[in-house]
Amino acid sequence: MRRYFVTTFGCQMNAHDSERIKGMLEELGLGEAQSPDDADVVVFNTCTIREKPDTKLAAHLGEAGARKRERPDTVVAVGGCYAEAQRERIFSLYPQVDVAFGPGTIGHLAEWLGAGGEGVARGAWGTGEERTFAATLPAHRERRFQAWVQISMGCNSVCSYCIVPAVRGREVSRRPGEIIAEIASLADSGVREVTLLGQNVNSYGRDLGTDFARLLREVDAIDGIERIRFTSPHPKDFRRPVIEAMAECAAVCEHAHLPLQSGSTRVLKEMRRTYSRDRYLRLVDEMRAAIPDLALTTDLIVGFPGETEDDFRETLSAVEEAGFDGAFTFVYSPRAGTEAAARTDQIPDDVKRDRIERLVEVVQRVAAERNASRVGAVEEVLVEGASRTDPLLLSGRTRRNTTVNFAGDAHVGDLVAVRIERATSTSLAGAQAVVYAV
Ligand code: 5AD
Ligand code: SF4
Repeated sequence: MRRYFVTTFGCQMNAHDSERIKGMLEELGLGEAQSPDDADVVVFNTCTIREKPDTKLAAHLGEAGARKRERPDTVVAVGGCYAEAQRERIFSLYPQVDVAFGPGTIGHLAEWLGAGGEGVARGAWGTGEERTFAATLPAHRERRFQAWVQISMGCNSVCSYCIVPAVRGREVSRRPGEIIAEIASLADSGVREVTLLGQNVNSYGRDLGTDFARLLREVDAIDGIERIRFTSPHPKDFRRPVIEAMAECAAVCEHAHLPLQSGSTRVLKEMRRTYSRDRYLRLVDEMRAAIPDLALTTDLIVGFPGETEDDFRETLSAVEEAGFDGAFTFVYSPRAGTEAAARTDQIPDDVKRDRIERLVEVVQRVAAERNASRVGAVEEVLVEGASRTDPLLLSGRTRRNTTVNFAGDAHVGDLVAVRIERATSTSLAGAQAVVYAV
């Protein structure tokens, strides 16, 4: 049997797309290899949001090239955002690559890999051609009880630092009927938690005359779906009806990942985020008032061109004011072709490094305080498997999306009650409680 191996970089949308890539390859009769060394077809599903994933990919492709020299019939395919961004140059940069494809053209993988018996069609197919929802393709899902669900593709925002709109194209919403049918069938097969995915989930539906709040309510009504998550919303589109749907729908989790990017209104303006620090913080107040116990996480960038020490301090104070439960913190990375990359007032690396260290300290302190306040509480945890740090413990996540490592006796996919005993900045620890059955 021929075997494949898929390596995934980047965001949850790529994790979703990789499950579809695997599903397609399995439909072609390939089996999953244990490592790229045993694979006849190696696929890289790439990311290009910052420079780091680009360099990581270069190392992986170097190894793939070496294997291909030993076994010339190995097929090397590169998909995702880097492939899309570099489609003109990919074969001169990496001659070992046979097939390149963008995030919107995964459905053609079978033709390119020669499923019709014509051999591998070497070439690049970008998102510019014709885009289809990867969601409609067969899937090889990693988890029986959790699933990613794509609700839209592309992004209509114009954030001046971001390459995504250029590689993923204009936003298109998936038909609500298709989304609901997919989730209903996932529920029938034992899925209890879905994460709705889009580059900007709460602008969902504008092109179809519907909206995200309505979609949340429809998903909430599906039997068997006990947890609904979504990522990522844009603060500019987070309106009252979505907050109300979050507050009223029993299955919608008390967690929002709400990317702030900077705490300085001046920098936000130059980032073209279209909200101010005050408007963001007002939104947080409104959400907290409507959804008691809300967990809030965010994305933050330091070292955006022209960012002053004062601007940066506003990001630090915004972390305190918003009281984030966690944050992904990034050093600004110039991406060719974006507005911010062309600016001449780039911040020196040592300043960026100093700022990210100071930011991480504040984020960790605030998150540790938030987690410490859970000690003594009993939380509902969806069991995901053995703990990574101690195989004798179980691990899962609360509705607020915090990882909990705990002593207990439960199966993967169970919802259990856990009494929280200890907290760090990134996780909780405790023991399964027998006080009540969930
Ligand atoms: N440099 C650093 N971080 C970036 N992000 C997006 N583009 C860049 C960039 N050029 C971050 C943002 C976004 C997250 C997915 O990645 O914080 O929300
Ligand atoms: Fe990376 Fe953005 Fe593409 Fe996701 S959408 S893979 S984060 S570049």
